[in-house]
Amino acid sequence: MDILFASSEAHPLIKTGGLADVSGSLPRAIRNSKQEIRLILPAYPAAVKAAGTLKTIATLKVTGANNPVRLLQGRLPHTRVRLYLVDCPQYFDREGGPYSKPDGTDWPDNADRFALFSRVICAVAMNRAGLDWQPQLVHCNDWQTGLVPALLSLEAERPATLFTIHNLAYQGLFDRPAFERLGLPQTWWAMNYLEFYGHLSFIKGGLVFADWINTVSPRYAEEICTPQFGCGLEGLLTRRKSHLSGILNGVDYRIWSPSRDPLIARRYTARTLRLKLENKRVLQAAFGLPDDPFVPVFAHVGRLVDQKGIDLILDLLPQLLQRHLQLIILGTGQSALEAALRDAGKQYPERVGVRIEYDEALSHQLEAGADAFLMPSRFEPCGLNQLYSLRYGTPPIVNNTGGLADSVTDASSENLAAATATGFVFNKPEPKPLLGAIDRALDLYAEPDRWKQLMQTGMQQDFSWTRSAAAYLDLYTRLAPASP
Ligand code: ADP
Ligand code: GLC
Repeated sequence: MDILFASSEAHPLIKTGGLADVSGSLPRAIRNSKQEIRLILPAYPAAVKAAGTLKTIATLKVTGANNPVRLLQGRLPHTRVRLYLVDCPQYFDREGGPYSKPDGTDWPDNADRFALFSRVICAVAMNRAGLDWQPQLVHCNDWQTGLVPALLSLEAERPATLFTIHNLAYQGLFDRPAFERLGLPQTWWAMNYLEFYGHLSFIKGGLVFADWINTVSPRYAEEICTPQFGCGLEGLLTRRKSHLSGILNGVDYRIWSPSRDPLIARRYTARTLRLKLENKRVLQAAFGLPDDPFVPVFAHVGRLVDQKGIDLILDLLPQLLQRHLQLIILGTGQSALEAALRDAGKQYPERVGVRIEYDEALSHQLEAGADAFLMPSRFEPCGLNQLYSLRYGTPPIVNNTGGLADSVTDASSENLAAATATGFVFNKPEPKPLLGAIDRALDLYAEPDRWKQLMQTGMQQDFSWTRSAAAYLDLYTRLAPASP
């Protein structure tokens, strides 16, 4: 089967969050099951640099671009997945993030940038890019590719479309002039199409027009049909419920395994857990904390945004400081959270280690060196860090939502007795329930044998792509049955 996988980021080319991890590993898993899947991404300077050898294989005129757009072809590093980079310097050749300027504010022309990207995806999908190849299915991801299913709906002989929601909170909302500028059909400025409370919504392009919608965990697929998690789109999603499903993300264990991770100080397995202590020592040093093998280290890595519930940890600081523990946080994001964390680090340098930066290697060291991983997200479509934590023997402490609920088994006494427990689940994203879970973790940590069993059960869980890629392949085949 021929599939075009469209994403605005993919590890190791460019990454701001979990979307990159998925876009860098799911296509590889699909390719390994002998399908022809090709990945298309904007040619950001970082992506061009990381991609290695590239050659220009097509040049095309596209609405919205001042000059012809070049398609660069290469390989997703360390895979057999063919890669296309959309080279349009006007929109993508700039210093800064894929969506935002170096100062963190959005690029003012994001509507134009991702409309252009979507138009090129459509040209490839319709075999109009001169590649002599047509996919049977286009797999779109998040709002940046939301216009693709909409634009393809205007075509007669088009490939099937799948739209994956990685995070409904990011919708790609733009003002009316942007809608006019993009020259989209006027009929789309309506509630049942792309208009959303007076704005143009890119994500609605995917939600309204895609043949199928999925999200990255079964629980989140349910949740987004409710007002609490639907971000105003719950009505539309409920109407499309018969075409909506959830598939839990997988992990690329080649990158995220303590037994082979080149980024950590000392490799270890479930049988050599004492070696994990060496990583703990290195981690404590990296965060300027006292070297103490006995004090439990609770850690977090992530984007510092409301979704992740870091404010709950900050609210609990006085209580946490009364307990025997160290706290470590690595992240970047909202400036108020960054400032509050920096202050905490300065005020309690012996207890709280904070690094406000994006550091891939350090995130691995943190998974390897910490004793427990905090993930008090208010919502979490899937979440990857709790899956990495399980693998690294760093039991996650999670709110009962989305992919967290679908991947962590609470250390209740029954689950502990049955040896199925893998972490700590609490039921409301509020400081008190979070503290309750932390206290349960501290109690169990004080019983080394039982704690060790918790670590080992987590490490034995299999969240590799095998199962999830098979589920995607099933879905692809249902949406685009082979021609007779
Ligand atoms: P989300 O996609 O919502 O950010 P996920 O848990 O799915 O959440 O994925 C986050 C990914 O981004 C993980 O691979 C995590 O390690 C990485 N990450 C986030 N912030 C940082 C950071 N400051 N330094 C290194 N890696 C980070
Ligand atoms: C999003 C979600 C996260 C998910 C990731 C990859 O950024 O916030 O929960 O794991 O996408 O699907």
